[in-house]
Amino acid sequence: MFNNRSYCGELGIEDNGKEVTVFGWVDRKRDLGGVVFLEIRDVTGIIQAVFDSSFSKENAEIADSTRSEFVVAVTGKVRERSPETINPNIPTGNIEIFASSIEILNKSLVPPFPIDIRENVNEEVRLKYRYLDLRREDMKEAILKRHKMMQLTREYLSSHRFIEIETPILNKSTPEGARDFLVPSRINKGEFYALPQSPQLFKQILMVSGFDRYFQIVKCFRDEDLRNDRQPEFTQIDMELSFITPKMIMEIIEGLIKKAVKELTGREIDYSFPVMDYDEAISKYGTDAPDTRVSIEIRDCSDIFVNSSFNVFSSSLSTGGVIKGIAVPDSGKLSRKMTDDYSDYVRKFGAKGFPMFKYNDGKLEGGISKFISEDEKLKLIERFDLKEPSVVFFSVDKEQIVNATLAHMRLKIARDLDLIDDNKLNFLWVTNFPLIEYHEEDRRFYAVHHPFTAPVADHIPLLDSLTPENAKKIKAQAYDIVLNGVEIGGGSIRIHDSSLQSKIFNILGISEEEARVKFSFLLDALQYGAPPHGGIALGLDRIMMLLLKRSSIREVMAFPKTQKGQCMMSEAPSPVTEEQLNELSIRIVKK
Ligand code: AMO
Repeated sequence: MFNNRSYCGELGIEDNGKEVTVFGWVDRKRDLGGVVFLEIRDVTGIIQAVFDSSFSKENAEIADSTRSEFVVAVTGKVRERSPETINPNIPTGNIEIFASSIEILNKSLVPPFPIDIRENVNEEVRLKYRYLDLRREDMKEAILKRHKMMQLTREYLSSHRFIEIETPILNKSTPEGARDFLVPSRINKGEFYALPQSPQLFKQILMVSGFDRYFQIVKCFRDEDLRNDRQPEFTQIDMELSFITPKMIMEIIEGLIKKAVKELTGREIDYSFPVMDYDEAISKYGTDAPDTRVSIEIRDCSDIFVNSSFNVFSSSLSTGGVIKGIAVPDSGKLSRKMTDDYSDYVRKFGAKGFPMFKYNDGKLEGGISKFISEDEKLKLIERFDLKEPSVVFFSVDKEQIVNATLAHMRLKIARDLDLIDDNKLNFLWVTNFPLIEYHEEDRRFYAVHHPFTAPVADHIPLLDSLTPENAKKIKAQAYDIVLNGVEIGGGSIRIHDSSLQSKIFNILGISEEEARVKFSFLLDALQYGAPPHGGIALGLDRIMMLLLKRSSIREVMAFPKTQKGQCMMSEAPSPVTEEQLNELSIRIVKK
């Protein structure tokens, strides 16, 4: 019976007069006394079927006995609707099926939320009944577009000589900076696999093996705190290439992304992605993933206040702090209450306040303006290029706190003042990252990208005279791609020289012994003719979220986890039986 099937959303006026059979779910039912209308939905869309009791009383009664989400098979003739009954809201709205038979294939309980209406439903309920949620239009669109993204990625990369190769899920730990998910081994008692945080080491090994362009659309696992753009398991479009430069990789990615934007949104990106230095991004925007849709830039004003009589500012400078600020246009929308609230709000970045003044017609007013000398005023007007009425906010603290505060506040204020154009897609490459950074608390260096990233060749000698200060001068051959302030991908040229790799491990506090235990296969492989190579990984979920304008990556994943890392539907994670634990020689210690 399932053979000659037509899809609801694919029927059109060209099928007029044809006998068709559709299978699907009852989306809506209307009974106009003697005539029953069922809107039938499948993965492609909706078609209306008409059951006229004067034609078949029995069919009309069966149709009338259905409810929302019953599964039905309907056969009948496609016919054109009369002009007054056309439904402009659905693509098949100018036709309907005049039904000659109906069979109920399965019944449905009353769903806990309506499927046919775009209304806000509590997310936990949606996730518990994800099978129903996925029938809704928004989720269906996301899943279908995601499929398209994966298809076009495979096509594009295959046509650029990439080979799709799977790498193992049961692994040894790969350091990407997050915690590992561990899987106990039954056969090797007391030993654990780690789920991959990324296929980093395996893709490098594939380069040594000579598959000189690899890709994989791959699940990665990271046990970290979750956010709207972070899930414990997520998907990367992962790539590695031999005999390659950052510029060549950036061109390939740009081509892929432009194709994706075109095919998923119909839009044309008609510019080359700008490239920004890491140092410029930090100084102008306070972050390495700036949202350039907002033109408000951070300005360093420390020099202006070195000898200031305004104690709060000058004393902060003398204890190693910095003073930076942002000027935002004052169109009267920024209320006193808002600026007061910002002072509290910035505490979450560790800032103690958010001092401000207003600029209007050559004069500074309100806030801290009374503490600012004439000379400082002139310098501030010049520094912020003040012409139109503006409000200038400052952050005064250690550089890290100041950058984090202003990076966030420039976007928050822009959003509050409705200054962000949600239709813009601002892509940006950020390059010239530092290779390593020193963490005061742990008194050691960490890799900014990951330990396999190659330094800029000319900077390698600096590794021999390393101090926390001159470490900043050593740049990595690394690049991130950012869209509207979200990091959607990152990669680097890798170290292909075994002794340089050992040296970097050493600098990162990874002892020879530890390096041997964790990465000996990589260090060995690098000694058997490793080609120069590099790569990148794109966050598929984040790209889909941004292109489809969704508020979180959960909205573009079929079965995401909650913020607490749970699957509401299957209720994972869950306890396991005593027997399973015994087999693994694992005992749970209750606190
Ligand atoms: P990185 O750690 O930068 O690089 O990850 C690449 C991209 O993956 C996405 N991403 C995430 N998406 C959702 N949830 C998460 N928890 C999550 N973590 C990361 C981001 C990010 O830009 N092996 C390197 C790549 C390389 O060097 O080739 C890597 O994994 O969009």
